[in-house]
Amino acid sequence: MENDYSEKNELQTPCFVFYEDVFVQNLVNLKKALNRRFCNNVIGYSFKTNSLPRLLQLVKENDCYAEVVSDDEYLLAEEMGFRNNCIIFNGPVKGEQIFKKAIVNGSLVNIDSTREIEWLNSMTLEKTVGIGIRVNIDLEKMLPGHTSTGENGGRFGFSYENGELHKAICQLRHQPNIKIDRLHMHISNATKSASVYQCLARAACEIMEVEGLDISFIDFGGGFFGGGDDGAAYNRYVDAIYETLVECGHEKTGVIVEPGASVVATSFSYLTRVTDKKKTTYGHFVLTDGTRMHIDPFFRKQTYSFNRFPHRSGNELLQVICGFTCMENDRIMKISEPEFEIGDMIEYNIVGSYSMCFNSLFISYLPYVYSLGSDNLYRIVRIKWGVKEYIQGNRWLF
Ligand SMILES: Cc1ncc(COP(=O)(O)O)c(C=O)c1O
Repeated sequence: MENDYSEKNELQTPCFVFYEDVFVQNLVNLKKALNRRFCNNVIGYSFKTNSLPRLLQLVKENDCYAEVVSDDEYLLAEEMGFRNNCIIFNGPVKGEQIFKKAIVNGSLVNIDSTREIEWLNSMTLEKTVGIGIRVNIDLEKMLPGHTSTGENGGRFGFSYENGELHKAICQLRHQPNIKIDRLHMHISNATKSASVYQCLARAACEIMEVEGLDISFIDFGGGFFGGGDDGAAYNRYVDAIYETLVECGHEKTGVIVEPGASVVATSFSYLTRVTDKKKTTYGHFVLTDGTRMHIDPFFRKQTYSFNRFPHRSGNELLQVICGFTCMENDRIMKISEPEFEIGDMIEYNIVGSYSMCFNSLFISYLPYVYSLGSDNLYRIVRIKWGVKEYIQGNRWLF
C-alpha cells in the first residue's frame, strides 16, 4: 500500500479505497479454515458491517451466503443476485411480508421473537421448512467480562436460562411442517476470544440434548477477529469450536459463521489530504479534507495504523490532525511526526468495518469509493454523492 503514492495522488479525496484482493483472500482463508474441520460449513457475510455493492458482488462470486437483518438488507441481497436459499435472515426487525416470503422461498430464517412464531403459525406450509432459532444464553455468567453488554445482559433471541427458549421450541413444535434445524448462537462479545465460541458450542450441544433437537447447523454468528495473518486467527476459532464439538460428540453437525469485521476491516483504507495548517497558543493543527465521522463514527478510537505520503524527514512535532467538519471534536489523532505540509496525503488503514455504513450526511455527502482490483488499477465503485443524490426521493412544494 505504501509504494504507490503517485497513483494514489490521482484519486479524489477524501475517499475510501477497497483492496479487493485482501478481502477475497480473507474469505478464502476463512473457508480453508472451516474446510479443515467441517464438511458442512457455510460463510454468511454480514451485510450490516459493510454493504458496498461491489464488495457484495465479490461475496457472491466467492460462494458465500448473505447474512441480513432487515427487510431492506433482504431486498438488497436479492438485488445483488443472491439466491433466496443463500440468504440468512436474522434480527428482531423483520417485517411480516418479507419474513413470509423468505420462509416460502427457502431462506435460512432465524427467528428472534414471539411475533415471528405467530407469523409462522398463521402460514399454511405445503412442505417441511427448516427454521433456526436465536438462542440467548447468559454468557456473561459463564465468562465474566467477555460480553459487550456486561451486567446488563443481551436482548436478542430467546433466553435459555429462564425457560423462554423452551417455550418457543414447544410453540414451534405445534406447527406440523416446521422443523427446528438450526441454533443461532451469536452473542455480541467484547474480547473476540476463542473461549467465547467454545462456550457457545458447549451451550448449543447442551440445548440439543436437553430439548431433543436434531440440528443440521449451529450458527455461531460473527464477532471474530481476523485478516492480515494468513488465516491464523480463523484457524484458532475453528479449532476451538471443533474441539468442543468433538468433546460433546457433535462434530458432524454443520457450522455456519457470519463474519463481518474479521473479513472486511483490513480490506479498506481512507485517503485524505492536508488542506491547511494552523498554529494557535494551544498547538499545531493540521486540517484535512477527511473527517473522523467517516472512520470513527462513535468517536472512540485513539490511534490508527496510517501511512503518509510523501515521506518527510525532520524533527518531530506534536500535531493534531483534524477533519473538515465545523465540529471542534472532529479531531482524528494527535501525533508526533515530521511536520505535515499542505497537499500531503494521510491514509488510514483497517477502516472497513462499521465505518462506511455509519457515514453521515453532515455538511458534505458520501465520499468516493475506489477499488483496487487484481489488475492493479483503481476504479471508482461509488461516485461522491452530490446534491442530486442527496435530494433523490424527496418531495416539496415549489
Ligand atoms: C447476528 C450477527 N451476525 C454477524 C455479525 C457480524 O459481526 P462482526 O462484524 O463483528 O463480525 C453481527 C454483528 O453484530 C450479528 O449481530
